[in-house]
Amino acid sequence: RLSRRRLLGYTAVGVGGAVAGAGSALAATQDAPPPVDAVGTRTVAFHGPHQAGVTTPAQARAVFAGLDLRDGVGAEAIGRLLRLWTQDAAALTAGRPATADPAPTLAERPAGLTVTFGFGPGLFDAIGRPDAVPAGFVPAPTFPIDRLLPRWSDGDLLVQVCADDSIAAAHAVRVLLVGARPFATVRWQQSGFLPHAGVAPGTTPRNLMGQLDGTANPTENDGLDDVVWSREGWLAGGTTMILRRIRMDLDEWDRVPPPEQEQAIGRRLSDGAPLTGGREHDPADFSRRDHHGLVIPADAHIRRARPHHGQDRILRRGYSYDDGVDTDGNPDAGLLFASYQASFHRQFLPVQRRLAALDALNTWTTPVGSAVFAIPPGCEPGGWIGQTLLE
Ligand code: HEM
Repeated sequence: RLSRRRLLGYTAVGVGGAVAGAGSALAATQDAPPPVDAVGTRTVAFHGPHQAGVTTPAQARAVFAGLDLRDGVGAEAIGRLLRLWTQDAAALTAGRPATADPAPTLAERPAGLTVTFGFGPGLFDAIGRPDAVPAGFVPAPTFPIDRLLPRWSDGDLLVQVCADDSIAAAHAVRVLLVGARPFATVRWQQSGFLPHAGVAPGTTPRNLMGQLDGTANPTENDGLDDVVWSREGWLAGGTTMILRRIRMDLDEWDRVPPPEQEQAIGRRLSDGAPLTGGREHDPADFSRRDHHGLVIPADAHIRRARPHHGQDRILRRGYSYDDGVDTDGNPDAGLLFASYQASFHRQFLPVQRRLAALDALNTWTTPVGSAVFAIPPGCEPGGWIGQTLLE
């Protein structure tokens, strides 16, 4: 069994990060990834008060697509599209083919598929409802650190598809984008990945800089619902999302000695613990000094990003991307930084402003894309996503 898994690309990685090598069958059993078939047939409920794919534990693969509405497409047509999308997403996430599914067999293994829809600022103009723009949902300003490209920015509609399997994700994206053709054109599409679904649940994934990324996210016992879900008007039960494509200068980063890399974040590379000691989830001591000064430097990412007044907490659900090399031969890789918060203005913007003003990480990272979306609440069977705004 072990050898079959290994052939299929699984490597069992334990909580401590130890790789179960050949011969350590016991370790592989203890930290075993789910059997292959369980990954393929796993489903995540589509219906409910919130859309799936936000507080759902992150699957291994994500595809984000931003669409522009075609000229003249208004509330009635958008309503038709969202009814179709809801129906197709409900089927695909349950492992059933979509309405006009070009490859129904690909729907049989949803692999934890979730589909999440969002509305960009332009949609409110298209439906003639500028009054319905949620409070605090403002187009993201451009920060001095940004080098934004239109090809990775903005959009009237978001389709976010996550799954533990690339085929399941690609199939869902294709079905949904084909369905949207009469109404909208694809402005951008970006794919990201996390360490394979086989890593133990509850462990923090690493990003391409080698850091454990996601440690200090809010949890269910620690205000997650209040951080994420809006209580306002038609958006109640929904949230706001920003997707920033942040390129990493990995060649330069690789030249930085590990102790300096750790100071840039304020956490250890080995286990993600704060530089002031303890284990990954222990609190950092931001006032501790040694003979060099602050142990977690003034410009360390976690010092700048941590909540400053209790309100500015966000849920990060980022994915790494690697699109090979650009025309200059430099790695085109980084982080698809996705963040969800009830209020974009009150929660996300203060954090991003602080980081744009001072953050050691800025030396090696460049935001090249940015798009914001209101993520409507979920729906029950018979309902459709967007109904609270469009009906
Ligand atoms: C924490 C990496 C961009 C907000 C962290 C941590 C890492 C990290 C390694 C520490 C572990 C953790 O708590 O997850 C990165 C990288 C980025 C990036 C590589 C860009 C490529 C951003 C951006 C924001 C942000 C754009 C928000 C505007 C946060 C927050 C924390 C955090 C709120 C938790 C701070 C705390 O309470 O301790 N990030 N990050 N990060 N990051 Fe980032």
